[in-house]
Amino acid sequence: MMQQFTDVDLSAWTTLGVPARAQEVLVLEDDADLACWLERRQAAPLPELVLGGGSNVVFLEEFAGRVVRLATRGRELLGEEDGARLVRAAAGEPWDGFVRWCLAHGWGGLENLAAIPGCVGAVPVQNVGAYGLEVGERIAWVEGVDRDTGQAWKLSAAECGFGYRTSRFKAPESASLVITAVTFRLPRQASLRLDYPDLQRRFAGLGEDVSPAEVYAAVAEIRARKLPDPRVQGNVGSFFKNPLVSPEVAERLAALHPDLPRHPQPDGRVKLAAGWMIERCGLKGAREGGARVHERQALVLCNAGGARGADFLALARRVRETVAERFGLWLEVEPVLVGREGVVLQL
Ligand code: EPU
Repeated sequence: MMQQFTDVDLSAWTTLGVPARAQEVLVLEDDADLACWLERRQAAPLPELVLGGGSNVVFLEEFAGRVVRLATRGRELLGEEDGARLVRAAAGEPWDGFVRWCLAHGWGGLENLAAIPGCVGAVPVQNVGAYGLEVGERIAWVEGVDRDTGQAWKLSAAECGFGYRTSRFKAPESASLVITAVTFRLPRQASLRLDYPDLQRRFAGLGEDVSPAEVYAAVAEIRARKLPDPRVQGNVGSFFKNPLVSPEVAERLAALHPDLPRHPQPDGRVKLAAGWMIERCGLKGAREGGARVHERQALVLCNAGGARGADFLALARRVRETVAERFGLWLEVEPVLVGREGVVLQL
């Protein structure tokens, strides 16, 4: 039976914990609930937002619409193909529980993405990445339903258009595509990714003797040291993307700021560390109302208590403007921003 609530305070539905009211919230737990929702949206159209774990969403103000929380569960080994395992999970499965379940079965491949809040259905949308792995590299296909037509769809990883913190699912033309399940292709032989500086340092000299479970534990430990626990201090992880710039722009900035961390990408562009730039602007600890730039990781904005969406808006604008003045670059916001009528694309 589909659960339905009206006039709901959303503060407990996102990891940022800002207050916002929605006119209606539906919780979907199975295919019958999904069908029920598709009927309801025809009968009573409203602006809509599909939500998983709420760990990458910022409500900037009240949301005059319907929130659809996908809470479907289920995970299974589908079989094997070319020396890899195909493992499928429903969109509502908590991501970290799924990663640990895979490891408990001896299926490595997702361990670099340890301890990330949120649900399986959300990871393809922004192509979640951390510690040297982007999830798109481990996705075989994504399944879902078109909420406007009711048609089921299935897209291969190549069709998903994965890039740095982006995918086809972020494009406005894909707004009707709702992800219901993701199938991962996990390598049979452990092929560990230990090239991220923090992991290189941790596992230096150990070579072949490292297991996926040890990598998971190391990543979880590094994250716990750097990033605030959203259960203690509300946050959505990185609030900005690391900018990708041309080699010329990177050279020009490097001449002025020799210690700016720069990472050349396979496509020729150079990724710059936004957290470093924000820190250099003296913004660590900066506050607007209840929103604060995190003291250890300047890329994270957190809820220091009682923050409202408007506080995050003001703080994010201040960070962008200060970085633009000092470095000549406009940082892009990473989480999904939601206004009165739904997703907004600009601050
Ligand atoms: N840095 C600073 N000061 C800061 C923050 C970072 O100088 O306040 C420097 C670090 O010393 C390092 C560089 O910037 O040289 C990169 O820092 P870090 O390794 O902490 O990673 P990041 O680039 O800030 C990205 C992801 C994180 C992910 C980590 C690890 C983005 C937007 N963020 O952060 O993802 O966990 O790498 O792979 O790409 C998220 O998306 O929510 C998230 C947490």
